[in-house]
Amino acid sequence: MNIQWYPGHMAKSRRQLQEDLRIVDVIAELVDARVPGASRNPDFDLLFSGKERVVLLNKADLADPAETRRWVRCFESAGTICVPVDATRKDAASIAVESIAKAASARVEKMKTRGISKVVRAMIVGIPNVGKSTLVNRISGSRRAAVGDRPGVTRSKQWVRISPYLEICDTPGLLWPKLEDQASARMLAFIGSVRDEIMPVEELASELLSLLVRIAPQAIYKRYPSFAEAPAEEIGLELLARSRGCVRSGDMPDTERAAALLLDEFRGGRIGRITIESAPDPGERI
Ligand code: G4P
Repeated sequence: MNIQWYPGHMAKSRRQLQEDLRIVDVIAELVDARVPGASRNPDFDLLFSGKERVVLLNKADLADPAETRRWVRCFESAGTICVPVDATRKDAASIAVESIAKAASARVEKMKTRGISKVVRAMIVGIPNVGKSTLVNRISGSRRAAVGDRPGVTRSKQWVRISPYLEICDTPGLLWPKLEDQASARMLAFIGSVRDEIMPVEELASELLSLLVRIAPQAIYKRYPSFAEAPAEEIGLELLARSRGCVRSGDMPDTERAAALLLDEFRGGRIGRITIESAPDPGERI
């Protein structure tokens, strides 16, 4: 399975982002806590040089908490502020804003000592489907439209005033995913950041199933008890289809439906809290 995908709107989003970044001081990069390395943008260092950075491990509610703690330590040991978030929860706004304020604090203090009250501007960025809009909506929520448009600079973007020194852009920046590296591309496909329409879905689900049996056997056997009793070579989409009643006429297992079901249950966290990309050892490059 070779995943190739770089839709035209990504090229446009790259140009747009580069333009927007000119007035941004802090970048909060949202990644998926189940695949924190693969869901980072490949050009991150180049794109954001000179900006303060924060990494938000979103969808932490779907990831293994112990692995999330390892990832946080990993980013922190590389000198990056990193916090787990669940953007669907109310407290996500304060968690994200606090970490952004922390990243900006040195700059704010420096400006204060010079008697300058320049407002620090932060933008939330990330690849598709990591939860950018959900988080931005949480943060802007009641504060929406608190600060007017800046004609000629931000176009349709609004800047939401968080404190006298901090504004957050209410339109997240779209980053292009890391698809050159096939291992990362696969992980992104598993979590649903690559559109299923361009994927061989049964092949993808079979690979995910093999991976889950290897890294989270207990969770898989609990969710699909028929796998616990089956010989290893029988564990697959056919067995899943039969055990879930996905059969076509002639008693043929409907593996296409089973594939969709597995992907859906994994993505929705119904199999368990599973991190599929382990944190690198301390000191290793993220
Ligand atoms: P994007 O802007 O980065 O593309 O992502 P978006 O906010 O649209 O979120 C993508 C999906 O992920 C949405 O689900 C959203 O509800 C879900 N999501 C975002 N953050 C979290 C999180 O921290 N935890 C969990 N469990 N889910 C999260 P959807 O099914 O596509 O849409 P909806 O049915 O929720 O509207």
